Amino acid sequence: MNKLRTMMLLLAGLVGVSSAWAAQSGKEVFGKVCGVCHNTGVAGAPRYGNAGDWSPRVAKGTAALYKSALAGTPKGMPPKGGNMTLTDGEVKATVDYMLASIKDAAKPDAAKAAPAAAVEQKPLAPVAAPAAPVATAGSPVAPAVSTAEVNAFNRLLKPASKRNLPPPEDGIHDPANDGTHALQPPLAAFGTLPKSFAGNRVNWVEALSSNKINPRYDRLDPNAVPVVMDLNIVREVKGSMPDVVYPHKQHTEWLDCSNCHPAIFVPQKGANSISMAAILLGQKCGVCHGKVAFPVSECRICHSKKKPMPVAAQAAPN
Ligand code: HEC
Ligand code: HEC
Ligand code: HEC
Ligand code: HEC
Repeated sequence: MNKLRTMMLLLAGLVGVSSAWAAQSGKEVFGKVCGVCHNTGVAGAPRYGNAGDWSPRVAKGTAALYKSALAGTPKGMPPKGGNMTLTDGEVKATVDYMLASIKDAAKPDAAKAAPAAAVEQKPLAPVAAPAAPVATAGSPVAPAVSTAEVNAFNRLLKPASKRNLPPPEDGIHDPANDGTHALQPPLAAFGTLPKSFAGNRVNWVEALSSNKINPRYDRLDPNAVPVVMDLNIVREVKGSMPDVVYPHKQHTEWLDCSNCHPAIFVPQKGANSISMAAILLGQKCGVCHGKVAFPVSECRICHSKKKPMPVAAQAAPN
């Protein structure tokens, strides 16, 4: 457990790099961020252009959908689709873009066309900031479980402004303790480390392999070294998504075998049933990914093994 603890402390400070790009259109954001799930319906995501998937959701009203998109939902919609650099306005524009995709399908049905049209003319209702609790009064569909609570574990998906706070303000350290004020702020500590585009913006695997950091593996024994095991496990994925390669090497450089075996995974290839839905809900790989390791929005780091694509499926541009 010591290693996991060390890792969690190490990753406890979160870096937020503010990105200063111009506002993107709903279509652009959808293509870059949301389409990976909403084109094919990963983990039950309502599919783009599929009126059947969307109609029960549209009935909740656009403001509720904005809220889900901004704050996430207990059933696996990550806050802002996992990309906290998006502005609230960009996320809402993307929801509008997705709703427009089913407008035509909804029209023939008179009963459904009316609320859909009403929704479109409504001025943008003010929506709670992503971190705020979302089960507000007046919401006709306050979920039984607060989405804020469910996604609270997802520290790496916090907005950039809420990450990387100096220790006295981070909610982890005791501000009344003088030692807290002597700690180096994460931004200063992470400044020289290799960058990544997600989570706390540090590529921890590279930081370790390039000797930029030298974590201690045992709280008591400074000379303890990790038992590194170099064994890749390929998990075949149905559909067009590349297969998942689970690398033991990169994990055992940080973690004890006992961090995963047997509590999270039975140590036998194929013996565990793992699904994207479970991961998005913080189980299986999601016990760590999205909390203390890179978040689930980085599809390709896990889905890294290309498979031969059926010719018909290659129509997608880019
Ligand atoms: C990692 C997969 C994933 C990504 C990426 C993703 N979504 Fe979702 N989304 C889901 C899932 C799963 C659901 C269904 C969750 C539910 O029923 O609560 C969902 C549901 C939604 C809903 C309906 C919520 C409701 O209350 O019914 C909206 C709106 C939405 N997503 C918008 C977006 C937008 C906008 C983006 C991009 C900025 C995005 N999603 C990116 C997985 C994803
Ligand atoms: C981060 C989590 C994690 C850690 C840490 C970890 N493993 Fe695993 N291990 C897995 C996963 C995931 C699988 C694949 C399970 C599956 O396919 O259902 C696996 C599979 C295995 C298998 C089965 C291989 C096969 O071909 O059947 C063995 C043996 C194993 N691990 C041993 C170890 C040992 C020894 C360590 C420590 C040096 C270790 N693991 C550390 C996650 C982990
Ligand atoms: C006990 C915690 C834990 C679990 C469970 C876990 N990981 Fe990781 N994983 C880590 C840590 C820590 C890192 C290194 C830090 C980082 O990359 O953010 C990592 C890194 C990785 C990497 C990056 C390797 C590289 O070369 O960059 C991949 C791929 C990965 N994990 C896949 C998985 C998959 C797939 C599963 C589930 C089968 C899984 N992990 C389960 C903690 C975990
Ligand atoms: C931390 C590693 C990890 C990340 C990041 C990740 N996946 Fe997965 N994904 C998995 C694992 C493990 C499975 C289960 C494979 C299996 O069936 O054994 C899986 C399965 C899937 C499947 C198959 C159906 C299902 O729901 O199980 C799809 C589709 C999928 N992922 C899409 C995505 C998309 C899209 C993203 C990015 C938004 C993503 N994944 C990010 C590890 C990951």
